[in-house]
Amino acid sequence: MCGIVGYVGKEEAAPLIYGSLGKLEYRGYDSAGMACIANGSIVCKKDIGLLEEVDRRNHLVDMPGKTGIGHVRWATHGSVNQTNAHPHRDCKNKIAVVHNGIIENYKELRAALSLRHKLVSETDTEVIPHLIEEEMEKGESLETAVLHATQQLKGSYAFLAISTEAPGKIAGARKDSPLVVGLGEDGSYATSDSYAFPAQVRQYAFIDEGEVIVLDQGGISFLDSSGTPRQKEFLPLKISSDAVDKAGYDHYMLKEISEQPETLRCSLIQDKNYFTELAMDILRAKQVVITACGTSRFAALVGRYLFSKVSKKFCDVIMSSEFHYFADSVDAATLVIAVSQSGETADVMEGVKRAKEKGATTLSIVNRPDSLLARISDKVIHINCGPEISVAATKSFTNQLAVFYLLAYSMVNKYDWAVERLRDISYNMFYSINGHGHQIKNIAEILADRKDFYYIARGINYAIASEGALKLKEVSYIHAEGMPAGELKHGTLALIEKGVPVVAICPNDYTFDEMLNNIAEAKARGGVIIGVSDRFDPIYDHWIKINQVEEIFYPLVTVVPLQQLAYYLARCCQHNPDKPRNLAKSVTVK
Ligand code: F6R
Repeated sequence: MCGIVGYVGKEEAAPLIYGSLGKLEYRGYDSAGMACIANGSIVCKKDIGLLEEVDRRNHLVDMPGKTGIGHVRWATHGSVNQTNAHPHRDCKNKIAVVHNGIIENYKELRAALSLRHKLVSETDTEVIPHLIEEEMEKGESLETAVLHATQQLKGSYAFLAISTEAPGKIAGARKDSPLVVGLGEDGSYATSDSYAFPAQVRQYAFIDEGEVIVLDQGGISFLDSSGTPRQKEFLPLKISSDAVDKAGYDHYMLKEISEQPETLRCSLIQDKNYFTELAMDILRAKQVVITACGTSRFAALVGRYLFSKVSKKFCDVIMSSEFHYFADSVDAATLVIAVSQSGETADVMEGVKRAKEKGATTLSIVNRPDSLLARISDKVIHINCGPEISVAATKSFTNQLAVFYLLAYSMVNKYDWAVERLRDISYNMFYSINGHGHQIKNIAEILADRKDFYYIARGINYAIASEGALKLKEVSYIHAEGMPAGELKHGTLALIEKGVPVVAICPNDYTFDEMLNNIAEAKARGGVIIGVSDRFDPIYDHWIKINQVEEIFYPLVTVVPLQQLAYYLARCCQHNPDKPRNLAKSVTVK
């Protein structure tokens, strides 16, 4: 997962790299480091901890030099310690490299390199500077050395290298991991994500697999896999810096929860004809399989329900990490819909590649417009919720749901009707978010010492129970389980005892009466009932009152208080909800 940055230009590199790394911390935050070239030497500082902590201890921003690279890490190979943090260097401290990805053949490479080189870390990355070192010792330029190094690497990578032999230059390459380059008036940048470019970058370009990039005082150049220069189209960069700052909120998570009324309306900026065409694709497909991970998978489960209920089209949802075990059933008559906020989740990418190999048609539903997934899929729907920085997905979830509503209703020629309903829901959401905060914060304070939470619901809201539980686990580290309410009595009820919170999503619809029966079973065992409902019942110990909406749209209004509950419980437990331990926003490992 990890984020990488490079800068060459007229300005001091360190503050610029530091600023960009701050925007990449969603990709990893267990260690951070930077290397710059100053007075013909490499200065490298790295340590464990959040970027800000590493800076406080090591003064990253004061590093001298106008050429530099930086890294934020999410450990895969090698524990979290200073040696394993990036940048990694060659034997003579002449070359430094930052890397995002996994070098699959690193054991073989390490074994071979160890005969001639001193490797000090446990990482896969460390082979790269030594491979470059070998090439440069043969007299190759930095870029040719990078090209030759990539020819020996298997796996996924996006990396940037600097060398004291070429002090005003950065060379890099990518395969299956993201890397983009940007041109500013002051210099040239490379980063894992275009969100991380500073405001002065106005144009950016993608790097194709097999290409090598060279950033120097003259700008950015590209070499193809044979080392021949190639022309590249630069695109205008249109990201507002407001979208990536906290805008006065304590955390991105709260900001992103609060943005949902507006972002939901952005999900409706779609082309109706395109949706009609996609609806036909879904209806015509012999079978439809939706694949996704985590929160996106719960959106897919709501989608499955909608396809079945609204459009009478049955489909299955397969979690992407399990997709290849079902690949035998995928064929040219299958439509595979992949749902991913980041569009770079390795499991999802792998599933889509498998599906393509089998001849299936692929449709991706993504947030990041320039993501790898969007670029490999046959067709794409953009959910348009803007940058989601908090690791916990919130606004992307509701926008994914909106897209599933549009698809389901397109299949029955009710696209416009769905747009109108979703617009109404967005106003509903606004009142709900602003009206609930205080009450949910109180409930969180009362229940913050509990060890387990259970979330129950029926029908279309079952996926919302699962999503509520996932949100709570990831940001507050409290164990939680979400399940269909009817399943409670088949085992889990054994765990309900005095004081255990049971969050019951029971809208006033066809599930209400049966939900009350299941709630009564939990209450009889001492469960503390948090009822998320538009209809009061004295059985609730706490009632989170939601607005009444047409029953099929309840997921959009029931999920929001669950996001708020997770957020406030994380705060009560003194955890930073934006940076949960062990997690990262883009999960680019399998
Ligand atoms: C939970 C969360 C994760 C992601 C999952 C898939 O809040 O964010 O469960 O939903 O890692 O990520 P994407 O949607 O980027 O493929």
